[in-house]
Amino acid sequence: MYRSRPTGNLDSKALSYLSSMTEDSDLFYYDLLGSQAHVIMLYESDILSKKETIDILKGIDQLISNSASLNEYAESTAEDIHELIESAVIKMTTMNVGGKMHTARSRNDQVVLDIRMKLRDDLNRISSNLLGLINSLLSKARENIDTIMPMYTHLQQAQLGVLSHYLLSYCFSLLRNYERFSENYKRINVSPLGACAIGGSSMNIDRNKVASMLGFSGIVYNSVDATTSRDFLVEFSSNSLNTMLDLCRISEDFIIWSTSEFGFISLNDQFSSSSSAMPQKKNPDPLELIRGKTAMIEGNLVAISSIIKGLSSGYSRDLQEIKPLLWKTSSTLETSIEIMNGIVSTIFVDKDKMYAASAKSYAISLDIAEQLIMEGGISFRLSHKVIGTIVDYASRHGSIPLNLLTVSDIATSLKKIEFSHPILTPEKILTLIKLDTPENSIRFRKTKGSPNKNEQKIMIDHVEKVIFDYEKELELRSNKLHLGMDLLDKKIKHLINESS
Ligand code: ARG
Repeated sequence: MYRSRPTGNLDSKALSYLSSMTEDSDLFYYDLLGSQAHVIMLYESDILSKKETIDILKGIDQLISNSASLNEYAESTAEDIHELIESAVIKMTTMNVGGKMHTARSRNDQVVLDIRMKLRDDLNRISSNLLGLINSLLSKARENIDTIMPMYTHLQQAQLGVLSHYLLSYCFSLLRNYERFSENYKRINVSPLGACAIGGSSMNIDRNKVASMLGFSGIVYNSVDATTSRDFLVEFSSNSLNTMLDLCRISEDFIIWSTSEFGFISLNDQFSSSSSAMPQKKNPDPLELIRGKTAMIEGNLVAISSIIKGLSSGYSRDLQEIKPLLWKTSSTLETSIEIMNGIVSTIFVDKDKMYAASAKSYAISLDIAEQLIMEGGISFRLSHKVIGTIVDYASRHGSIPLNLLTVSDIATSLKKIEFSHPILTPEKILTLIKLDTPENSIRFRKTKGSPNKNEQKIMIDHVEKVIFDYEKELELRSNKLHLGMDLLDKKIKHLINESS
């Protein structure tokens, strides 16, 4: 829109092709904040007079309190929110005054400033929602320390476990995602403003002052880096994908567990859909959509990095295409976490069904094999063979649960592999099998991080403590952010009040 070398207007089709106005609507507020800080810094650096500063600040204030006035003042030929706001302020003040707002600034440092400001707010909400979800998983874990269930590998029954163990695994995994976002925050929360188009300015501006008024922890020092780099948002997209992949796996598990065949859990009606045709249906659509939307988040990561891949250093307009993808990623992630939190905290767990599936399961086999090693001193490989052969016998004879086998069933199986042992007689093996009840199976599992009750308590206490620490960290972070913003607010109020 501000065309000095090219003459005349942009072709109207070209203008709408160039326009980023739709995706910029989320940046409106941040662009105004950035402009306020920039203008105050220009005043404090003796580049703008007090009167000019106040006039511009009043214009910006009017746009904040009544965004509709933007349409009244702004130029319709603006390519983006930055030009739109500048043109409105110029109309409200005059070219001589408003035209100074863009001194020692370029849309190149301005756009990446706005992105960083919006992204850090998105990230803070996402982080706080993540802690909320982890808290809900933890509460459910506390209720289900004794809820015995089969654990699966290849979706085949593998070993017996407890539901809390499963839920805690996602507490750990999601906490790692929280930590990734916290690291990411450090790299987002630095100000690029003052880098100008690419090579800085010959005017006496103060980059650090702007940064601190906007709550940043510092500046992106190198001006080429400040305007070129988008690594922080590739990182954000990757962290988002990792988080969605966790939600996606929980979704898949819950979908399977809520089938009539499993019946381990049932979703609250608030989070279930119906069928327009089949009256009996209660479908897990929100979980399916978390799974489906993960594909979009994955696609966005690939698209964003592909946009960057083709570029030379410095700003190129291709970068504009990243914004709608990024906003879609952050808003989808934020709501997906909220939905998952609602589902987890209202889910019904059918402990009896889980126990019944465990009681008749061959998932006890590895525990029995380990008992044979400890009692008879045989090798793991031989023990594996003995129990495998007994399970094969039981499953071929009508899937007899192992504890209902007889001594002669076991003797027949052992004969097949010519196994005989002074201690591990068929009688002794049957005694060991009967000793391995589902409860004992869990109790006997001693290793750190396994499903036994003591380990559950250790993990619950640990997660509880980490959540507490991270909640504090988030609070501190938001206080620091507001400290800078409060300073900006104070300076604006002081200048505007002084003039009236
Ligand atoms: N609308 C542009 C974007 O979103 C702003 C920066 C434009 N800069 C430029 N030199 N054309 O990326």
